[in-house]
Amino acid sequence: MRIDIISVIPELIESNISHSILKRAQNKGLVEIVLHNLRDYSTDKKHRRVDDYPFGGEAGMVIQIEPVDRAISHLKSQRDYDEVIYTSPDGEVLDQNMANSLSLLQNIIILCGHYKGIDHRIREHLVTKEISIGDYVLTGGELAAAVIADTVVRLIPGAISDEQSALSDSFQDNLLSAPVYTRPADYNGWKVPEVLLSGHEANIAAWRLEQSLERTKRLRPDLLK
Ligand code: ADE
Repeated sequence: MRIDIISVIPELIESNISHSILKRAQNKGLVEIVLHNLRDYSTDKKHRRVDDYPFGGEAGMVIQIEPVDRAISHLKSQRDYDEVIYTSPDGEVLDQNMANSLSLLQNIIILCGHYKGIDHRIREHLVTKEISIGDYVLTGGELAAAVIADTVVRLIPGAISDEQSALSDSFQDNLLSAPVYTRPADYNGWKVPEVLLSGHEANIAAWRLEQSLERTKRLRPDLLK
């Protein structure tokens, strides 16, 4: 899989994709994540501007269509893309189902939103999918792009060493995951549930399912509907 991310502040995404599971997935060749600075596609060689005043006299600056079109056309001249995603609070809200679908794609572009918006013709003619990461407003789309990349990459087979652990994630079956524990088994009287120390696989599996159901009912009953 290849993920190209276009932003005016790619540095905001850099550290998110350079550690832990995302770093390992890239090193293993499972995914290529390439950051692009939109200013590199500015036609204004001197100031590298990519925004301008909005028509109609609103406050704030708007990202221009030309640099975005140049960036996307440049990428499309090199390979086909399954989706050109725009991060925006107006978009479809990201959930585990959407992450699963995205993880099956070959090549995607993520265009980061900007606090005052982008020329609407970009959204009408160049973008194929708009994604929100939740019903709140961020200052820009960079954190959203990092969230999308993170949740998608960890689902690529081989990205997580024990494939089971991605399958048993919270939300993967619309259930929250069961609690986990590690040594010591008794910390100042706070004990690990006995069943986990029993070595009895069937009982442990039954306990985990029961815990998942109980936690989902109590904490996120909406997931069971
Ligand atoms: N840009 C600003 N807010 C956002 C959100 N909630 N999701 C995605 N992109 C955004």
